[in-house]
Amino acid sequence: MSISSQVQESLNKSSWIRKMFEEGARLQEKYGADQVFDFTLGNPDLEPPEEFHQELVNLATNPLPGMHKYMNNAGFPETRRAIATHLSQVSGLTLHEKQIVMTTGAGGGLNVIMKTILNPGDEVLVSTPYFAEYGFYVTNFQGKLVPVNSKTDFQLDLVAWDEAITSKTKAILLNSPNNPTGVIYSESSLQQLKNLIKVKEAAYGTTIYLISDEPYSNLVYDGIHLPAVLKIFPHSLLVTSHSKDLSLPGERIGYIAINPQLPDHELLFNGLVFANRVLGFVNAPALMQRLVSKLQGKKHGVAVYQERRDLLYNNLVALGFKVTKPQGAFYLFPQSPLADDIVFVKAAAKQRILLVPGSGFGAPGYFRIAYCVSRETILNSLPFFTKIAEEFQLNGSC
Ligand SMILES: Cc1ncc(COP(=O)(O)O)c(C=O)c1O
Repeated sequence: MSISSQVQESLNKSSWIRKMFEEGARLQEKYGADQVFDFTLGNPDLEPPEEFHQELVNLATNPLPGMHKYMNNAGFPETRRAIATHLSQVSGLTLHEKQIVMTTGAGGGLNVIMKTILNPGDEVLVSTPYFAEYGFYVTNFQGKLVPVNSKTDFQLDLVAWDEAITSKTKAILLNSPNNPTGVIYSESSLQQLKNLIKVKEAAYGTTIYLISDEPYSNLVYDGIHLPAVLKIFPHSLLVTSHSKDLSLPGERIGYIAINPQLPDHELLFNGLVFANRVLGFVNAPALMQRLVSKLQGKKHGVAVYQERRDLLYNNLVALGFKVTKPQGAFYLFPQSPLADDIVFVKAAAKQRILLVPGSGFGAPGYFRIAYCVSRETILNSLPFFTKIAEEFQLNGSC
């Protein structure tokens, strides 16, 4: 065999994703692309904000000397200062550019963090359901991902966390607003988790890092306040990107912020910068660093996504689907009408609706709908969701 057994095993485990993809392509050929409703990808359909294009033109017409050169591996000081200022406003802490490392998206940032903090066998705890790539990011560095069950409304289950945190726990990885549920963890549950971590750190004589993965933090609906994780957890790192909020996933731009209250924050900064370099990222894309420094705190597309959430959520509930109303991000995570969510997703594909099974997020019995698609796609898909509801005899009001 020419590839590593670990990679081979991962490919085998996710072979159903390829099959789903092939099935989608087959259906599109048969019925036409606009007659197949693909809700599988968290790839925003909105264009980036107008200011982004203006700044891009500005830079292209007035290039800065040396703007494409290597730089400090942490990123441009001006960009890191702009982010530190923004995060200071959001969190009420005082952050400095020495606490910001620019990364190639949140995915790159998470790998940089895992490389920096993990020893072989260290455990990273995550609340279910969770973004599937986390498992790979942790095993990349010989760590172990430990899923912790959430409550039925997908909020943190503090009893489960009490059992799960042990002397092997190196980090807790939270994602709120959450992919795939759209849930925002409540301030009170985060405060309780903070108290629990403090007790466990004292009992085991360890430091437990709280890693907050926040690529959806600017996509929050109904005027809800997103609790500031940096403020709540003194031993925290924030990692995020502009893949979702500025519709820039292909540009690979994000950052890590280190909580200034961490006693070893300087060492951590040096470790993160080193990891960024030796993982081969070297530094985050230079052009994008210049552009996003002008767009910190920008709320782009919130009203559009909120309207789509309402359209889809209200219709699915009326059809009899059971689903927790999302408070942010652009996903719905309904219960699967069949216990076997993979079988259900295959049945939905026959009705031209492409979905992702909850099993892919450590939550069998559910399925994910990504509604970062046009309103027209959602409207045109509704008769097909109706057929699915009829096929599975859901008792909706319509
Ligand atoms: C929760 C979560 N974290 C991280 C990522 C990775 O994002 P990026 O494109 O910034 O690497 C995603 C992408 O879908 C995500 O949903």
